Amino acid sequence: MEARGRTALYVCCVLFTLTDVSSEFIHVPSSIHHGIEGEQVLLSVETRFPLDDVEIQGTWSHTRPSGIRTTLVTFRNEITITEMTYRDHLARKPNVSLLICKVNQDDEGEYHLNLNIDFLNGTGLVIKEERTVYVTVDVPVSTPVIEKSPSYAVVEDKANVTWTCSVERGTRVVFQWLRDNVTLGLSDRYLFSQDNSTLLISPVRKEDKGTYHCLASNAVSQERHSRAGELNVYYGPYNLEVNSDQGLRTGEVFTINPGELVFFDCLADSNPPNSYVWISKSRNATQVITEGPRLEVRSYRLAQAEEYLCRAFNNVTQKQNEAQFTLVVASLGTGKEKHSQDGSPVTPLAAITVCSLFVIGCMLLFFLRRTCHPKRVLMSIYNRPLSEQKRPHRSGHEDATEDFGIYEFVSIPGKMESAQASCRSLARLESVQDMHTTIYDVIRHVPETPSHSLLE
Ligand SMILES: *[C@@H]1O[C@H](CO)[C@@H](O)[C@H](O)[C@H]1NC(C)=O
Ligand SMILES: *[C@@H]1O[C@H](CO)[C@@H](O)[C@H](O)[C@H]1NC(C)=O
Ligand SMILES: *[C@@H]1O[C@H](CO)[C@@H](O)[C@H](O)[C@H]1NC(C)=O
Ligand SMILES: *[C@@H]1O[C@H](CO)[C@@H](O)[C@H](O)[C@H]1NC(C)=O
Ligand SMILES: *[C@@H]1O[C@H](CO)[C@@H](O)[C@H](O)[C@H]1NC(C)=O
Ligand SMILES: *[C@@H]1O[C@H](CO)[C@@H](O)[C@H](O)[C@H]1NC(C)=O
Ligand SMILES: *[C@@H]1O[C@H](CO)[C@@H](O)[C@H](O)[C@H]1NC(C)=O
Repeated sequence: MEARGRTALYVCCVLFTLTDVSSEFIHVPSSIHHGIEGEQVLLSVETRFPLDDVEIQGTWSHTRPSGIRTTLVTFRNEITITEMTYRDHLARKPNVSLLICKVNQDDEGEYHLNLNIDFLNGTGLVIKEERTVYVTVDVPVSTPVIEKSPSYAVVEDKANVTWTCSVERGTRVVFQWLRDNVTLGLSDRYLFSQDNSTLLISPVRKEDKGTYHCLASNAVSQERHSRAGELNVYYGPYNLEVNSDQGLRTGEVFTINPGELVFFDCLADSNPPNSYVWISKSRNATQVITEGPRLEVRSYRLAQAEEYLCRAFNNVTQKQNEAQFTLVVASLGTGKEKHSQDGSPVTPLAAITVCSLFVIGCMLLFFLRRTCHPKRVLMSIYNRPLSEQKRPHRSGHEDATEDFGIYEFVSIPGKMESAQASCRSLARLESVQDMHTTIYDVIRHVPETPSHSLLE
C-alpha cells in the first residue's frame, strides 16, 4: 500500500518534471512568499522568451483562505488593467510579475497567474501557462516576556508551577521552552498549552530547578529569546553520606587509631542547605553531641564499637534523613594512614586474598616438589588460635580484622628430621618475588607487636 503510494508519487514527480521541462516558457523562483505586514511582496515570474516578439495576455487572481476569488490584474502586452479597489495596492511589475505594495492580512492566500502566449511564428498556436503562488502575511515577533506563577520558590512534590510566555507583537508565534539551554521535550509532568505559550509543571521536582527561557518565532522572525527566569525548588535531603579522610572504612564501620583526632563530614543534597545534628548512640540513650556538618572524634577506648548517627534536616521541606555508622578504635599502625591518604588503601580483605594466593601457590609448589622429593610442608599461622584455622574464610569486611596475622610456609624435608626450610627458598625457584613484596606490605599493617619483630 505504502509502496504503491510512493510509486504513484514518483510517477507524479516525473510527470510534473516532464511537463515542467516541456513548458518552461515561464519560471516561478519561489512558490511561497512569507510577507511581513506593511512591506512589499513581489510575486516574481521570469519569462524564458523574448517578450518583444510575442503577444501575451494574462490575469493574476487571488483566492483568499475563505475561498473568495478576485481578479486583480488583467494585461495584454503593454496594457494593464488593475481591479479598481486595488489600484494603489498592486502593480504589474515589468512583464508578468506582480508586486503587492503593502501587504496586510487580507492579502494572504493563493495567487494564480494565467498566461496566454502567441509566438507569432505563423502557427497561430496559443500556449497556455498557469502558476500558483502562496502568500502568508505575518507580523514580526517582539521579544517574548516570561512569567512564572507562583513567583516564589516552591517545595518539591507539593506545588505546581506555570510558566507563561507572551509577546506584544507577532502573529502565528511558535513558542519553545528551554531549561539551562536545553529544549524541554514532552514529559508526563509537563502540560503545554496548544501553542506552547504556557507550560504547567505538575508536580514540580528537584530536576525542574534551573534557568528558564522561552523562544518565540514565526515565519518572518528568527527565534527571539526571552530574559532568563529562575525556578527555585526546595528539596531534599537526598543521598546523605558520612565521609572521613582518616581512619579505615569498611562499609559502615570506621576504624580509627586510639587517640587520633578524626573528622567526619556529613553531606546531603538539599535545598536550602540542611541543618545537621550528630547523635551518639554509644550509651544506652541517644545523645546529641554536636550540630553542623562536621564531627570531631578522639577516642582512646580500644576495642569498643560506638554508634554514631548524622541526621540532616531540611527545615523547608520538613524532611530528614539519617546515616548511621560504627566507630571502632583499634591500632591501625602508621603505614595504614599513609596508604589511605594515597587513595589506594590495602584492605584486610586484600591482605587475606594475597595471603591465600600465596598459600595456594606454595601448596602447589609443594605438591609439585613432593612428587620428586617427598617433603612435608607445614603452615603455621601466628597470632591465631588453632581452632580458627579450621573455620572457613568468610569474605565480609567485618571479619577482616580477625584475619590479621603472618602467614608463613615452612617446608620440612622428609620425616621432619632436617632443619626447616622457609618458603622463601622454594619461592625463589619459581621467582614469585612480587608476591613477597606484597606480603611484606600487608604484614606492615598488622595490628600488634609480634609481627613486627618477626619481620625484622
Ligand atoms: C521584462 O522584460 C524585459 C525585456 O524583455 C527584460 O529586460 C526584463 O529583465 C524583464 N523583467 C523581468 C522581471 O522579467
Ligand atoms: C513557434 O515558437 C515556439 C516557441 O519558440 C516553438 O515552440 C514552436 O515550435 C514554434 N513553431 C513553429 C512552427 O516554428
Ligand atoms: C497541581 O495540579 C494537579 C493537576 O495537574 C492538581 O491535582 C493539584 O491540586 C495541583 N496542586 C496545586 C498545589 O495546585
Ligand atoms: C546558556 O547559553 C548562554 C548563551 O547562549 C550562556 O551565556 C549561558 O551560560 C548558558 N547557560 C547554561 C546553563 O549553559
Ligand atoms: C510544543 O512543544 C513540544 C515540546 O517541545 C513539541 O513537541 C510540540 O511540537 C510543540 N507544539 C507546538 C504547537 O509548537
Ligand atoms: C537500655 O535500653 C534497654 C531497652 O531500650 C532497656 O531495657 C535497658 O534497661 C537499658 N539499660 C540501661 C542501663 O539503661
Ligand atoms: C531554616 O534553617 C536556616 C539555617 O539552616 C535558617 O536560616 C532559616 O531561618 C530556617 N528557616 C525556617 C523557616 O526555620
